[in-house]
Amino acid sequence: MKAEEFLSENIKEALKNNPPGAWMPNLPKECIRLSSGYPDPELVPSSEIKKSVAVLLEEEQDLPLHYIGSPRINRLKEQIMKRLGERDIRVSDSEILITSGACQAIDLIARIFLDEKAIVAVEAPTYMEALEIFQNYTKQILCVPIDEDGLRTDELEGMLAERKQKGLALPRFFYTIPTFQNPTGTTMSYERRKHLLKLAEEFDFLIVEDDAYRELAFKNHPVPIKAMDKSGRVLHVGSLSKIVAPGMRIGWIAGASEFISAASWFKKDLDHPFAQSTMAAYLENTNLDEKLHTLRAVYQAKCSALIRSLEQYFPKTVSWYVPEGGYFVWVKAPGVDTAQLLPQALAEGVSFVPGKYFFLDQKEGSDFLRLSFSYASEKEITAGIQKLGKLI
Ligand SMILES: Cc1ncc(COP(=O)(O)O)c(C=O)c1O
Repeated sequence: MKAEEFLSENIKEALKNNPPGAWMPNLPKECIRLSSGYPDPELVPSSEIKKSVAVLLEEEQDLPLHYIGSPRINRLKEQIMKRLGERDIRVSDSEILITSGACQAIDLIARIFLDEKAIVAVEAPTYMEALEIFQNYTKQILCVPIDEDGLRTDELEGMLAERKQKGLALPRFFYTIPTFQNPTGTTMSYERRKHLLKLAEEFDFLIVEDDAYRELAFKNHPVPIKAMDKSGRVLHVGSLSKIVAPGMRIGWIAGASEFISAASWFKKDLDHPFAQSTMAAYLENTNLDEKLHTLRAVYQAKCSALIRSLEQYFPKTVSWYVPEGGYFVWVKAPGVDTAQLLPQALAEGVSFVPGKYFFLDQKEGSDFLRLSFSYASEKEITAGIQKLGKLI
């Protein structure tokens, strides 16, 4: 029996385009991970979560271990709604769905809006997982460049106007990571956020705002696009992965109740009562704002260590954006094929992600690399950049 022959045509093609593990090979433990968009292991509150589990099971006995049961599931939703409210995103109970991380939120959004005929528009480059998800639903992906102020909304406007004039279909939605973008670390300016909303009205599409890194601002918190949205065109995707623990798989979609009920209907993995009620118990006993204060300071210091090392160890021809939050620095190394550089870097014990994997057309981005400052320690970051500098 040839197992592959049983796979659907869609899946065969997706696997051919995106072979598993291509951009993230298995890394030995001692490798300096400048590739991983993971939180700093020291900042993941494992002992507090252990205590929360004890409190939860003491107070609720077996309830959280059943399909339905823990009152804390609703309390988690309320806690998230309260935090969103503090960011001027006001949603009612029917306008928010808790998901298994932001990834499931993106997958559900793709599932309810996309089919083979639908067009989705994205930033180029963008979060590779989202690109892979969209490709599972449609081949029609419109890619719009970004610069240091985020999405080039002028380019988007040109593309949309041209499509309209030619009678071509317009996108169903635009997927954007406006704040501390993955992979570039850039933030969309306020003017461009307004422009994107205006284009959404004019050309009748939705905006999916992936705000996974929002809370990790070193200084200023940009206004969420959802907070500027008057017509219900924005779906806001969030996550606690980057600020609490990714293994808990807590994310959400906030948006118009019609979309939320469609997404809920297609969310067939049921809920995860144990993870959700543990997270609720953790948040009840934690001053998250205080924690965030620490997280921001640690990540800012690591980011500075990375930038300092780039200045010291990389050739002068290399350039980068300096992020104002998040996890990533996007580096351009003219004339270097970063996919070819990776095996040499791994042999030296340091990893990064080659830029091409963040583009739909992988002929683009070959001389870029994404460096993450979140996971490795400051000392490792400096040593890793020194090694990469030598290779480049
Ligand atoms: C932009 C963006 N969205 C979503 C995610 C995934 O979040 P979650 O762990 O909540 O699924 C990531 C993680 O790398 C990300 O960079």
